[in-house]
Amino acid sequence: MISPILPTYNRAPLSFVSGEGAWLVEKDGRRFLDLGAGIAVNVLGHAHPALTEALTAQAGQLWHTSNLYHIPRQEELAERLVAATFADTCFFTNSGTEACELAVKMARKYWSEKGQPERHVILAFTGSFHGRSSAGIAAAGSEKMTKGFGPLLPGFRHVPFGDHEALRAAMAEPDVAAVILEPVQGEGGIIPVPDVCLKGLRDLCDETGALMILDEVQCGMGRTGKLFAHEWAGIAPDIMMVAKGIGGGFPLGALLATEDAASGMSAGSHGSTYGGNPLACAVGNAVMEIVAEESFLSEVRRKAGLLRQALEGLVASHPEVFELVRGSGLMLGLKCRVPAGDVVQAAYGQQLCIVPAADNTVRLLPPLNIEDEDIREAVARLDRAAVSLVPAPQA
Ligand SMILES: Cc1ncc(COP(=O)(O)O)c(C=O)c1O
Repeated sequence: MISPILPTYNRAPLSFVSGEGAWLVEKDGRRFLDLGAGIAVNVLGHAHPALTEALTAQAGQLWHTSNLYHIPRQEELAERLVAATFADTCFFTNSGTEACELAVKMARKYWSEKGQPERHVILAFTGSFHGRSSAGIAAAGSEKMTKGFGPLLPGFRHVPFGDHEALRAAMAEPDVAAVILEPVQGEGGIIPVPDVCLKGLRDLCDETGALMILDEVQCGMGRTGKLFAHEWAGIAPDIMMVAKGIGGGFPLGALLATEDAASGMSAGSHGSTYGGNPLACAVGNAVMEIVAEESFLSEVRRKAGLLRQALEGLVASHPEVFELVRGSGLMLGLKCRVPAGDVVQAAYGQQLCIVPAADNTVRLLPPLNIEDEDIREAVARLDRAAVSLVPAPQA
């Protein structure tokens, strides 16, 4: 018999009932160290007092009015994002997937309004992930995501990740509207795009006029040690998708764009009932107030150095379990030699939460304000998990 919840997840037999900082408490009382942070969502850990205060204060005042009216908290958050990034304008959503939908619509409308509706193709990369909507799965293009859901939304073309020649040829096609990519592939296995490649792609976009859409849903909001990952390459996109960390655990996403990229959008061309509602934006402002501070971001970089160094040591001690560490900032992946799912299970056995990804990788995405001692504790638990996976040598 089907469960009351549609069985689209293979859930771990764990139910967390409370949390504090980087720790989660299971209903049986066991404490788990959370290096998944709700898949890169809880950037300030669990029950951060500033976020709780922002949410409860707003909840006592006004929950929802709709975008028929001005929403002061939304305007405040948009101003913060515009001030902190390349963007001139924002649209708020409830998720990364919805930001993807708007990114695709905005790019197509841009060319349509410029009198070139035939420029409607969105180029995307193999191994990418942009959400589970019809546009999101068409953009990702992998069989795992699309099988059985056809006919797929047309107008997407895929380039093998890392194939510069194929990219150059694909960008030269006259029907290309935009290219979409994650500066660090998340679901794909924590695979960063080298800075030089992001710069090269920016140049290609400038040459051809194609819009550059960056999906920073997972790698943005301080995760790599800059507010947004593309800043490391010294480039700016035309359109950027944001979600996950921006709400610190409250559902919130955003689509950021330059004035030019957004020029096709006008009143009535897009909307959302809940997007940017007062509760979500109260929390978003509280997150931005902390995470966008340079002193906070430099601490993320320092903690990232600690974690990375400890993980390099872990790989060296367990070459039969782990192959390598990769990633950026506090978005790190361990490519495994044993099945990554076994490593996740062994970590649960040590009361540690980590997240599987493609390419036989496990993801470490801790809260960005994780304590140094919790970083050390997490690596100690991973070490014990690795030991538990390797049979002891026969005497
Ligand atoms: C890079 C990226 N884009 C888009 C999404 C979709 O976001 P959401 O699950 O909030 O719809 C995700 C979610 O994991 C993601 O990692």
